[in-house]
Amino acid sequence: MEIYNLKDKSTASIYTAIEMLKTIKTKPDAIFGLATGSTMVDLYPQLSNLLNVNKVDVSQVRTFNLDEYVGLNAEHTQSYHTYMHERLFQQYEGWNQNNIHIPNGIADDMEHEGEHYEKLLQDIGKPDIQILGIGENGHIGFNEPGTPFDSVTRIVDLTPSTLHANSVHFETEDEVPKQAISMGLSSIMRAKRIILLAFGEKKIDAIQRLAAGNVSEDLPASILHNHPNVEIIVDETIYKAL
Ligand code: F6R
Repeated sequence: MEIYNLKDKSTASIYTAIEMLKTIKTKPDAIFGLATGSTMVDLYPQLSNLLNVNKVDVSQVRTFNLDEYVGLNAEHTQSYHTYMHERLFQQYEGWNQNNIHIPNGIADDMEHEGEHYEKLLQDIGKPDIQILGIGENGHIGFNEPGTPFDSVTRIVDLTPSTLHANSVHFETEDEVPKQAISMGLSSIMRAKRIILLAFGEKKIDAIQRLAAGNVSEDLPASILHNHPNVEIIVDETIYKAL
């Protein structure tokens, strides 16, 4: 695991977008694992811009989002479906809708939806790049502290810390869905390369704990120490606190 200071969110987002562009150029049917949240708001516009100016063929690229809120339909303003379509998939013409995968938060049988998504992931092969953010409590995806390292895609309960952090996107904290469907830690670890982005003071504690190197289910992101190809990209605020 390497930690890089890319100074600010903008530079880090451009770096990550370029890495994704290079991957598509060398492998037109690249597979990406994608994250949402405040951390990623510059990444997808940067990537869309690079795709537009380079006229890249993304028709074969396969994407798999990490998670979705349970109970929010695809059209809900705060669903991760809406997040991804507004920032990435509607910003460039070439995406093939059949190759875009985001868990369904309103499936009739949510347990089956988790199993179905996990099977898709296992059948498709290893993602070329998995993009990750990190929760203030050290979660990746919505794998909250205590999640077993061998977990797969399933329904999870969000912790008070996550509900509070994500309430900024909703009118009231009560409106934040209490559950999500999330790829598991073992699902995430299948990727060939992992790029985790973290910015700002609120993430200092999680990155300090991650950098300390102790591998424990109390800090879900610490599983990344067991992966051979992980970059932790931080801004100056976090880096100078390490
Ligand atoms: C989002 C996800 C989460 C976020 C994390 C950080 O798809 O899986 O792990 O990356 O909660 O969220 P932000 O970026 O909003 O601080």
